[in-house]
Amino acid sequence: MLSLQDQMKQAVAISAVNQIRDGMILGLGSGSTAALMIQELGARIKKKELNDIVGVTTSFQGEVLATELGIPLKSLNAVSHIDLAIDGADEVDPHFQLIKGGGACHVQEKLVAARAKKFVVVVDSTKLVDKLNLSFLLPVEVLPGAWHQVKEQLEEMGAEVKLRMAQRKAGPIVTDQGNLVLDILFKDGISDPMSMESRINNIPGVLENGLFVNLVDQVLVGEINNNEVSV
Ligand code: 5RP
Repeated sequence: MLSLQDQMKQAVAISAVNQIRDGMILGLGSGSTAALMIQELGARIKKKELNDIVGVTTSFQGEVLATELGIPLKSLNAVSHIDLAIDGADEVDPHFQLIKGGGACHVQEKLVAARAKKFVVVVDSTKLVDKLNLSFLLPVEVLPGAWHQVKEQLEEMGAEVKLRMAQRKAGPIVTDQGNLVLDILFKDGISDPMSMESRINNIPGVLENGLFVNLVDQVLVGEINNNEVSV
């Protein structure tokens, strides 16, 4: 039996896959909601309900899942465009600005979202917030040789900063690009995501941060009303 949150994720995943048409080049996001979307896509390709699909994944975990499901894949460099990218998010504000990177995949996710003609975000209603970064930490991918220096510069900007560690503190999390992740919190939240995105990315040693500003075309939200799941 799926939890209510998983039922909301499943509903938005199916709703997003309903937008896919034959022949599309798709950006395939990362995380549990995107994984449900990839599973639904794989099932429809297997049943020949969708044909001539090419996927561009945004993480190694997504690549493994899509490969196991028989979804044809190409690298970002090998495609001329992306018709539709579908991905989850950690926080969505009322202006459709996002925090992503809970799975440390935001570098490739942002590249794919920026390349897509249409970027659809799939979330359950728990991801909707009034202001970004009041509760979910903002991920910042950094070069391993620069993490401490970047941490100090972020602290000078007023952030609380933690190096993301693997479970049981078995060492730092390493991204698909071989980098580290700093998780940061501005205790009053982020009022101007656009300027914060570029201020952080201007620090030498930062690869990318998880603020997705003015990239989203549509947000599909799974909700529960009277025990009924809807999108
Ligand atoms: C990974 C991401 C995910 O899309 C985000 O963490 C949401 O994941 P989930 O659907 O599991 O809640 O940005 O880097």
